[in-house]
Amino acid sequence: MFESIRPQNPDKIIMLIKQFRDDPREQKIDLGVGVYRNADGVTPVMKAVKDAEHQLWLEQETKAYTALAGDPGYHAAMRSLVLGDAVDEDRIAALHTPGGTGAVRNAFEVVRLTSPDRTVWVSKPSWPNHLSMLDFLALPRAEYRYFDSETRSVNFAAMMDDLSQAEDGDAIVLHGCCHNPTGADLSSVEWDELGAFLINRGVVPIIDIAYQGFGDGIAEDVIGLRSFAGSFPEMLIAASCSKNFGLYRERTGILLAIARDSRTRNTTQSLLAHLNRQNISFPPDHGSRLVTMILQNDALRTSWQDELNAINATLRDNRARLAEELRRRSSSDRFGFISSHKGMFSLLGASEDQVELMKKRHGIYLVSDSRINVAGLTDGNIPKMAEAMLDVGM
Ligand code: LMR
Repeated sequence: MFESIRPQNPDKIIMLIKQFRDDPREQKIDLGVGVYRNADGVTPVMKAVKDAEHQLWLEQETKAYTALAGDPGYHAAMRSLVLGDAVDEDRIAALHTPGGTGAVRNAFEVVRLTSPDRTVWVSKPSWPNHLSMLDFLALPRAEYRYFDSETRSVNFAAMMDDLSQAEDGDAIVLHGCCHNPTGADLSSVEWDELGAFLINRGVVPIIDIAYQGFGDGIAEDVIGLRSFAGSFPEMLIAASCSKNFGLYRERTGILLAIARDSRTRNTTQSLLAHLNRQNISFPPDHGSRLVTMILQNDALRTSWQDELNAINATLRDNRARLAEELRRRSSSDRFGFISSHKGMFSLLGASEDQVELMKKRHGIYLVSDSRINVAGLTDGNIPKMAEAMLDVGM
């Protein structure tokens, strides 16, 4: 049986983690995987998480299973965080998934079970696992142009042009905010225009939101998503608590499915629970319980929001300092886009050869498509980063 197995290549993000680890140089810089690190290179446990864990340790009396689709309290807390009151509660089915990836995977499973012949549209570029999972599930997929490599912003006209080929019943993967890997987001006017266009075509949005709170703010980052939710008859949302609650390894995510009415919501809910039963049975509980406690308790929530805002300010500051350093060294404004991108990432627009040189010559690790994680920048390494970028001809 095992003889027929061929080794699988990890994707470019996962591959980079190992390459970085194996590099013996002390001055190496990790701008790879999307994990927040503070100036000391540490991914801290957020204070609200620690406090909730302490309270949980004191109060929790059982580790018995919760419910197949996850705890209803977690569903309610996340519904409110992501959707506010944009949609009637009785139209929303929910599934607690292991991380945001689990939510995306289950969203694709729903497409496979309900409309396996329809095309799933994915931005070019996108998080590599989107295409990989669609291929794994043998779902038809197509890419729409998204990023303008000249302006380093969204090429909305090209995007709309490609999407004019989308057909009734197709699905489209959109990034709720902080587009991964580009850092270039749609404006709210573009969200509205896109929404009206897709509704007319009968295209179902699948919104992947893994960085709520890392763009303009917790509420601001879901303006486009909520406007879609308020107008589409059906929609899937894959949300992650990995980054905004710093719960990476606790695998805390949720799939929200907005159905036409409460009857279809109930059948959708039963399908979602069935998917968990088939794949993992009962979902993990620890991370989701902490999130629920934090969102339901005023003091914990304020502490969480303050810390998230501070993380965000650091990321924005890193962006501004790198852009300024490059402006000074290159005597040009061509790197100004780094400051206007949102979230953890920026796509620098460098060639694979340049990225390889950054790694070999300077010990700086960015994803081969030239995505950087701005959280890996520090006061100490920004000059080196700017120098290296110019040295490889960016
Ligand atoms: C990333 O894009 O770096 C993160 O979402 C981590 C991952 O799983 O790829």
